[in-house]
Amino acid sequence: MNAMEVGLPATVPAEGLPARVRVHEVGARDGLQNEKAVVPAQVKAEFIRRLAGTGLTTIEATSFVHPKWVPQLADAEELFPAVADLPVDLPVLVPNERGLERALALGARRVAVFASATESFAKANLNRTVDESLAMFEPVVARAKDAGGLHVRGYLSMCFGDPWEGDVPVGQVVRVCRALLDMGCDELSLGDTIGVATPGHVSALLTALDGAGVPVERLGVHFHDTYGQALSNTLTALRHGVRTVDASAGGLGGCPFAKSATGNLATEDLVWMLRGLGIDTGIDLGRLVATSVWMAAHLGRPSPSRTVRALSHQES
Ligand code: HMG
Ligand code: MG
Repeated sequence: MNAMEVGLPATVPAEGLPARVRVHEVGARDGLQNEKAVVPAQVKAEFIRRLAGTGLTTIEATSFVHPKWVPQLADAEELFPAVADLPVDLPVLVPNERGLERALALGARRVAVFASATESFAKANLNRTVDESLAMFEPVVARAKDAGGLHVRGYLSMCFGDPWEGDVPVGQVVRVCRALLDMGCDELSLGDTIGVATPGHVSALLTALDGAGVPVERLGVHFHDTYGQALSNTLTALRHGVRTVDASAGGLGGCPFAKSATGNLATEDLVWMLRGLGIDTGIDLGRLVATSVWMAAHLGRPSPSRTVRALSHQES
């Protein structure tokens, strides 16, 4: 039986690409934070368990944010202990010291703060200016390091465009990236929150960050797939040396505070491309598709991922 028959592309490597990519799975957080219906904590826990069974090694579990701001993740205290035994990294979002305390109380080892390159989104998402939010994160990062050297990710949203402000100058993005690294973040994730990036733009930003002394080894990319550009943008980022790619099983996702944000790059679509290029992710595509089909049944609608649809013959 050839690869196509079992649902895998032929492997044909291309030049200038890495041997391995780490997938940072965000479906349980970025995906489920945007669902109208609140998914029960036991279903979320089962989703994360199934994701861990696919070979994913980093699965963002939830957010310790204000429950009124994101009611979909208000069950973080119930969910996190239900998955904490899994042998995978389980980062969680913490916007402030209150969030960090909640995460530390449950033994979280990896946290993420989330900044914005634009004032409008900082206000909508964090009720702060960009600089006020950076000031809010500073003690969070310092305490996370003091509390036993937690790994800290710094997200940066609206890197390629903003629904209120339009174009986002590259210099604005570089400034906030530098601030996040200077305060002690271990890695950054460059967010295309509303999915407007195109490959030349990705290239321009990564070149500017390189020029500003930001090491590419510390960068991840986080593309939402609103206009179907997420895979092309990812390939461009890989050619620039990026080795960490955020994606969401089944293409779940969005952001409740940014109109026009749709789902993230689907993990299945990413794995299909990487597999075809001979790039190792350690992920079992068949198990991943089965997990997304299972989750789609819980959510009552089919996955938007092209790969999930092709491999599962899902009703659309
Ligand atoms: P605020 O209203 O300014 O909060 O919200 P505050 O600091 O004034 O505090 C008000 C009350 O909230 C206080 O309680 C605090 O204790 C409580 P009171 O004294 O009045 O009884 N409080 C909390 N309670 C529980 N957990 C907490 C917490 N913090 C304060 N952590 C705040 C500010 C940051 C809290 C709010 O804006 C918030 O929770 N925002 C979260 C928004 C969010 O989660 N957005 C989605 C994630 S970002 C994203 O999706 C983008 C990304 O995917 C990348 C991309 O795509 O670009 C990452
Ligand atoms: Mg996102």
